[in-house]
Amino acid sequence: MSSASDARFWDRSSKSYARSRISDQAGYERTLERTGALLKPDDRVLELGCGTGTTALRLAGTVESYLATDISASMIAIAEEKLVASPFAGLAFRTATAEALASEAARFDAVLGFNYLHLVRDLAGTLRSIHALLVPGGRFISKTPCLGDMNPLIKLALPLMQMIGKAPYAGVFSAQELSGLIAAAGFEIVGTERHASKGKDSRPFIVARRA
Ligand SMILES: C[S@@+](CC[C@H](N)C(=O)[O-])C[C@H]1O[C@@H](n2cnc3c(N)ncnc32)[C@H](O)[C@@H]1O
Repeated sequence: MSSASDARFWDRSSKSYARSRISDQAGYERTLERTGALLKPDDRVLELGCGTGTTALRLAGTVESYLATDISASMIAIAEEKLVASPFAGLAFRTATAEALASEAARFDAVLGFNYLHLVRDLAGTLRSIHALLVPGGRFISKTPCLGDMNPLIKLALPLMQMIGKAPYAGVFSAQELSGLIAAAGFEIVGTERHASKGKDSRPFIVARRA
């Protein structure tokens, strides 16, 4: 399995993902509010795994520039349709991964990744690429499902769902392990918050700073 097969999975899922409802709207609003408060008007922002661009369209107006990226060209095509409907200077969408972007010259003041880090196959390597994409002192802000902290039944069901093509690749780690990996990639963890408005929250919102 490869990043090409991951892209195909998400291409196939893009239309239903675009139609799906946010499961915890209040929790999502809290994440947007906290992220917005951490961004500055002159920031150059990169979002990874942006999906159909919902978050990008909400946050891009508050910063200097906002590049929203995703491994799936179909997700990006839907995001671009939304952008045509409500154009925004400073916001651009592009099909790309952290690894590919890190080999280019552009650097960012903040990198965002929501519901994304559990989907990358080489998490330590991706975190190193994110570190390289930031200017010194730049912020990495993420919110990630930590399957290691979830009901063990999910871990049992996941391989079966993957076998029949109904689930993507997903890494299993706890919030503590994720924080450790982020720190090992050269970040200082500035804070960890929980934004869910209901149920057990296994998706820590982690703010890190490139040391
Ligand atoms: C669960 S969706 C989340 C979308 C959006 N960030 C949100 O919170 O609604 C995960 C997204 O990550 C993208 N993705 C998966 N693996 C990726 C990778 N290695 N690099 C970049 N994007 C990836 C998928 O195409 C998908 O759009």
